[in-house]
Amino acid sequence: MAPRFRPDLDRIQPYRPGRSIADVAAEFEIEEVSKLASNENPESPFPEVRQAIAGHLAGLNRYPDNARPNLTAALADHLGVPQERIWCGGASNELTFITAVSMGGPGTSAVYAWPSFGLYQIGSLAIFAEGIEVPLDSNHRHDLNAMQAAIRDDTTVVYVCNPNNPTGTHVPGDALERFIDGVSDEVLIVVDEAYHEYATAPDYRSMLSLAAERDNVLVTRTFSKIYSLAGLRVGYAVTAPDNIAQLRRIQLPFSVSNLAEVAAVEALRHQDRVAARCADNRAGIAHLTAGLRARGCKVADSQTNFVYASFDDAERVNVGLLERGVIVRPAFPRGWLRISVGTQEEMERFFAALDEIGE
Ligand SMILES: Cc1ncc(COP(=O)(O)O)c(C=O)c1O
Repeated sequence: MAPRFRPDLDRIQPYRPGRSIADVAAEFEIEEVSKLASNENPESPFPEVRQAIAGHLAGLNRYPDNARPNLTAALADHLGVPQERIWCGGASNELTFITAVSMGGPGTSAVYAWPSFGLYQIGSLAIFAEGIEVPLDSNHRHDLNAMQAAIRDDTTVVYVCNPNNPTGTHVPGDALERFIDGVSDEVLIVVDEAYHEYATAPDYRSMLSLAAERDNVLVTRTFSKIYSLAGLRVGYAVTAPDNIAQLRRIQLPFSVSNLAEVAAVEALRHQDRVAARCADNRAGIAHLTAGLRARGCKVADSQTNFVYASFDDAERVNVGLLERGVIVRPAFPRGWLRISVGTQEEMERFFAALDEIGE
């Protein structure tokens, strides 16, 4: 006899994070390993942020203020959005999952593009009665017409990942706004903007202004990427106050830690550093894209901090890279790898390893 877990849990593949540096170093007996697998920022948090964290260690005996007042106020100021429309959480994973728990259940469905961020699928299998996956178009972009057609009477949530993970592609702002206009007010449209700060395409537009005005749009953002705080777990969403009141009913208390709040508030003060990191990232994307295309790979146009590239034998390349201390991410479908921008040195190691493998 064993404890009785839900039998349908068997359908869910656990989220598979990129392999860790320590793990690959041990398996291949390599001292220096470059991790280009998890779309992290290759740089440490800003020095002022590290200092702010260090200055708050002594207060860790106290629970955080569950309303996250300092971060909410700082975000309201930074975004120009009223505080009552801001919802903070333990990074976008938590916000996305709570949305699913609050809006899923028997007799519901969620619509999302595929391939896209894995948590929409996990949430759908665990919580919604059905996850309706709409294939990306031939340019690896969300097919908004097909997504519109896929929405059913029982659909309560539509996820739009813009720019999209794992492809790095974006849908233009005008098209996304038209799509949102065409969706019933009863359906919540979650626009996941985890990579928003990296996007530079002239036709890219955040849906934040819609989330600040309408009742059925929720935009999620994170401090994990451009702000280099993936290890601290803090993010936010903008949506209608009534939505936030519902979502907070099941949010775990204190999910934004004291240090996460302090770090995020400090990070927002350094938009000059953000701009410099974006510029570095754009150069990294251009270098990765051109280098891979020159070696015969197909590479999707990326508005993020990673590229999605096809290889004749992606599995061989992936293993060859691991053996040489470079971790990338096998992506869906087979044949594609996702490679995050690293430091200049890491990019050089990546290309040197690739040339040795001979793809
Ligand atoms: C599209 C997208 N959304 C959300 C996340 C989750 O980020 P976090 O929970 O660190 O904010 C990721 C992480 O890679 C992502 O790619």
